[in-house]
Amino acid sequence: MAATPASSDGPKLREANAEDATAIEGIYSTHVLTGLASFEEVPPDSAEIARRMADIVAQGLPYIVAEIDGRIGGYAYASPFRTRSAYRYTVEDSVYIAHDALRRGLGRELLNAVIDRCTAAGYRQMVAVIGDSENDASIGLHAHLGFAIVGTMPNVGFKFGRWVDAVRMQRPLGPGATTPPADYAGPEPCKAL
Ligand SMILES: CC(C)(COP(=O)(O)OP(=O)(O)OC[C@H]1O[C@@H](n2cnc3c(N)ncnc32)[C@H](O)[C@@H]1OP(=O)(O)O)[C@@H](O)C(=O)NCCC(=O)NCCS
Repeated sequence: MAATPASSDGPKLREANAEDATAIEGIYSTHVLTGLASFEEVPPDSAEIARRMADIVAQGLPYIVAEIDGRIGGYAYASPFRTRSAYRYTVEDSVYIAHDALRRGLGRELLNAVIDRCTAAGYRQMVAVIGDSENDASIGLHAHLGFAIVGTMPNVGFKFGRWVDAVRMQRPLGPGATTPPADYAGPEPCKAL
């Protein structure tokens, strides 16, 4: 993607690369260790972050960082929602912002960029699986960008000594379900028994 122009107060977005793994590890590990958004409990090291990033990028999916004040203030990416083939037009987003860069528009800019990239690539639905039904920031951000809550799975996590819900939010991308996918070649009837 073309990097968005730098300005004195706004974030600059660009594709992530392996050299960003240390900064991303710093942001993510804080959220893993102090928050309920992620159901990971042991933060992955930067080598594992780089491995996961390479896996995303190899699938042609976006992995984007936001620079602000000369450093990485947050990142977002899309990953396959589930691996079974009929899910192939649905992606899941992830977005994490450094604690000292919250509420400066980075989450909105990053998630918007991931939505745009996935829409252009032909994906039709985006899902967020948000740890903690009291995660007002993530629920608010996703609602702000057109996601609706489609379900809450109560008590599916146990972290910091308590049961934690997972909230699913979803929004269509592009034409959503109003047309078949662009590469659809015709009916594939259910196989007769
Ligand atoms: C959720 C998160 C990414 C939001 O990032 P952010 O950069 O602080 O959010 P932004 O400044 O871009 O806010 C955009 C909109 O999101 C909503 N929002 C953001 N923070 C919010 C909060 N604490 N409470 C309610 N709404 C909030 C608002 O609608 C806001 O628009 P506004 O500022 O005009 O009111 C950030 O809080 C975060 O990293 N949280 C921990 C990790 C997480 O929950 N990630 C999502 C899991 S997929």
